[in-house]
Amino acid sequence: MARKILLEHLNVPGIETLEVFRKMGGYQAVEKVLKTMSPDDVTEEVKKSGLRGRGGAGFPAGMKWSFIDKKSEKPRYLVCNADESEPGTFKDRYLMEKIPHSLIEGMIVSSYALGAKTSYIYIRGEYFYVLRILEKAIAEAYEAGFLGKNILGTDYSLDLHVQIGAGAYICGEETALLESLEGKRGNPRMKPPFPAISGLYASPTVVNNVETIAAVPHIVNMTGDEYAKIGVGRSTGTKLISASGHINKPGVYEIEMGLPVEEFIYSDEYCGGIKNGKRLKALIAGGSSVPILPEHLITKTANGDARLMTYESLSDGGFVSGTMLGSGGFIVMDETTCIVRNTWTLARFYHHESCGQCSPCREGTGWMEKVLHRIENGHGKMSDVDLLVDIAKKIEGNTICPLGDAAAWPIASAIRHFREEFEYHVKYPEKVKDPKHFFYAPFVSEKMNASIA
Ligand SMILES: Cc1cc2nc3c(=O)[nH]c(=O)nc-3n(C[C@H](O)[C@H](O)[C@H](O)COP(=O)(O)O)c2cc1C
Repeated sequence: MARKILLEHLNVPGIETLEVFRKMGGYQAVEKVLKTMSPDDVTEEVKKSGLRGRGGAGFPAGMKWSFIDKKSEKPRYLVCNADESEPGTFKDRYLMEKIPHSLIEGMIVSSYALGAKTSYIYIRGEYFYVLRILEKAIAEAYEAGFLGKNILGTDYSLDLHVQIGAGAYICGEETALLESLEGKRGNPRMKPPFPAISGLYASPTVVNNVETIAAVPHIVNMTGDEYAKIGVGRSTGTKLISASGHINKPGVYEIEMGLPVEEFIYSDEYCGGIKNGKRLKALIAGGSSVPILPEHLITKTANGDARLMTYESLSDGGFVSGTMLGSGGFIVMDETTCIVRNTWTLARFYHHESCGQCSPCREGTGWMEKVLHRIENGHGKMSDVDLLVDIAKKIEGNTICPLGDAAAWPIASAIRHFREEFEYHVKYPEKVKDPKHFFYAPFVSEKMNASIA
């Protein structure tokens, strides 16, 4: 069995309560940092651990913390990003629901390191029941003296609030989140300035993902050096993966960084293989925003090396033959998946969720959805395929926030790897109008598909 850190005590009855959580060693990191470490010592441990942000971009957490403006006289804030709206990603919900105190302990230790006296957890509107779980756990932590004034008799005080969003994907983007937290419409801000300089209420702020923050107490307890020994290269520690799609065992898994993708998909410890013995066709490895991989690039890179669950290995080959670890939303697709329909579904999502601030994203996502809709429904033109690539290129890199890139990459990569499937839809409109149509990948030949359809 692989090593577990975040989910080690998952199956202990009552682990959601403060009493059981403490029996399992919970809140020891709070005692340790408040009584024996300076805030800078904590940041140093996080730096040593190599922990990278688990929200998608993988930015080193300790480095982000060290950017916080310490000269500012304004209050500093830690904001936990629990928006988790990326299709295919549901690991933060799992952690908050099952072991809520792990996030609260992480918030206390991280807030101490940053010198924050007020911190927030911003949770998506659809997670209303998780909000109740968190509120209960926070009340327990106040009661036990882990939150509030003079925590554990020290001179450190912290107030922790949970704020619920209204169900907008864009509010997961850190600056849109801060706008929303301030009570405004969740439109992303131009950067710079970055939140570490001017974030919540124009004050120094760090925004981190749930999983990133929950890892911090473990790093403090085991030391940064020990944490850094787990994993491969610059991908250290463990990672929660939300696995879904055509697999035998969908769910949330904690893996050690460096696990081969093949083992993750086929081993009984994890996904347990493809459902009904079907053939693997495609993978979205890190949430819907990352490039899709075709069968031949899933378990091996373009060089023939084993593809590993690390930031580096998954992105090996760049966007030509690689993808990203992203938020760890691992969506497995078998041979019955129509890539055109899948791509159209994603385009619809991004069009709906674009905040509309930037023209390339507002207009481009709408056009991509429209063009994909007509291809999928047998009304496409051959030139539509290149038109989609062209629109994606015009969105990428031309927007205030990365939602534009997130909308462009899945579409551009689907056409790169499955172009024949798009062209087939244009050539054989009658066949694709049948809702049961499906294709094999890698697309071997039109003849083969024609025989299947
Ligand atoms: C459109 C969009 C949605 C995002 N949604 C989330 C989210 O739900 N949760 C999250 O942690 N990060 C999300 N991010 C990334 C955040 O902007 C930010 O990078 C992250 O919260 C930083 O935390 P980390 O360094 O711990 O990963 C999103 C980014 C974009 C562009």
